[in-house]
Amino acid sequence: MGSLKTLSGGLLLGLCLTLLGWGAEGQWDGHPKKEISGSGPINLGQQQRGTWWPLMQTRENLTEVKSIKSMFQFRTFDPEGVVFYGDTREGEDWFVLILRNGLPEMQIGKADILVSVQGGPKLNDGKWHLVEISSQGDFVVLEVDGQKALVVGLKSKETMEVLTGQIRLALGGILVSVDKLFLPFQPEMDGCIQKGNWLNLSTPWETELIGEPWPCYQNIQPGSYFPGAGLAAFNTTDLPGHQTEEGGITIDIHGDSTKMEGTVLSLNTPGQELPTVTVKINNNPKKVILTILKSDAITEQSFSRLSLTLLKNQVNMDIDDTHLTFEIDSIPDFPRSWKEGMILAFGGLPGDGVSYSSIQYLKGCLEKIQVQGQDVDLDRALYKDLSVSSHSCPSEV
Ligand SMILES: *[C@@H]1O[C@H](CO)[C@@H](O)[C@H](O)[C@H]1NC(C)=O
Ligand SMILES: *[C@@H]1O[C@H](CO)[C@@H](O)[C@H](O)[C@H]1NC(C)=O
Ligand SMILES: *[C@@H]1O[C@H](CO)[C@@H](O)[C@H](O)[C@H]1NC(C)=O
Repeated sequence: MGSLKTLSGGLLLGLCLTLLGWGAEGQWDGHPKKEISGSGPINLGQQQRGTWWPLMQTRENLTEVKSIKSMFQFRTFDPEGVVFYGDTREGEDWFVLILRNGLPEMQIGKADILVSVQGGPKLNDGKWHLVEISSQGDFVVLEVDGQKALVVGLKSKETMEVLTGQIRLALGGILVSVDKLFLPFQPEMDGCIQKGNWLNLSTPWETELIGEPWPCYQNIQPGSYFPGAGLAAFNTTDLPGHQTEEGGITIDIHGDSTKMEGTVLSLNTPGQELPTVTVKINNNPKKVILTILKSDAITEQSFSRLSLTLLKNQVNMDIDDTHLTFEIDSIPDFPRSWKEGMILAFGGLPGDGVSYSSIQYLKGCLEKIQVQGQDVDLDRALYKDLSVSSHSCPSEV
């Protein structure tokens, strides 16, 4: 319980500080908006967790719209999230392009029709793809890299040609309420857009972003990136559980430990002041530190894969091919506590006031995080700091 309070407290504090920062710049007027270029690059990953509101939006009188096509380049490793939204009649007619399982999906609401279509190539391969969306009569057409990916026809006695009013476009969110969607989705998208051309309009876009827009990394690789400023935390009841008590719970971390510094993970039991288990990496000099309550176990090794197995009163750690076992009477019955709900954090210790004043956030890339052999998606965390990118790490090549 205490941990959850701290987590949301941390989130609020973070928000307040950024708002204060804005105020100091003298631009805070209760509803700050600023102009941003629609041609990009635009990093869609800079959205607060759980937000449906777009990162940026624009509107234009329909009488000004001469082109029927929007096109942009898009790059992501994220399998799910919202990319591009458009509507007319203030959201009466709308469409949204999202990814689900890496595939493009369009949902369209028009008059009494609600449509969802999915198909085309998987887009979440970390490469730039040219995406084009056009409205051609009764059809909406999605093209990817010059090939038709989806064509949706819509007809109803109630649809009418809309020639007046405004068209709104949005990136990284939607402007209709979530309950209008055909199928809900996880809105967060760790992706980048560049070279956007939106109906050939030159109207500026607006954003409520606080601070400077984030750049897009030149090159990315799959993984979760922790820049040393925050963590992501799960309630273990939201993660896969144990099949057998003897098998315990396994947490796997893949990545190059020589390029990490700080806390890789920590596991906290509610009501306990000390974290139950933490794994930290130091590279100067090189060591991996496993702490179980007050006991440290230090190995002077680097790894590309670290595996922790939590058993009843026992913790096993495998670093590449080295196997270590720790049995401590005072540690909890992990399989049981896991089912009851512990906090598993990646990239730091969920702070608890003074006792964690030297919180050592992780700086580095966790190329893969698995629990019980299943990939862990930080977009589904109980809490994720804005600085953490859930599906991409900067890479040198
Ligand atoms: C849109 O139309 C309204 C009224 O018809 C007009 O006042 C406004 O200036 C127009 N906006 C643009 C961007 O053309
Ligand atoms: C796009 O806009 C430019 C100038 O703003 C214009 O020269 C060009 O013809 C337009 N293209 C289309 C397809 O409307
Ligand atoms: C974790 O989830 C369990 C079960 O839903 C709940 O009882 C517990 O309060 C949660 N713990 C935290 C810290 O959110």
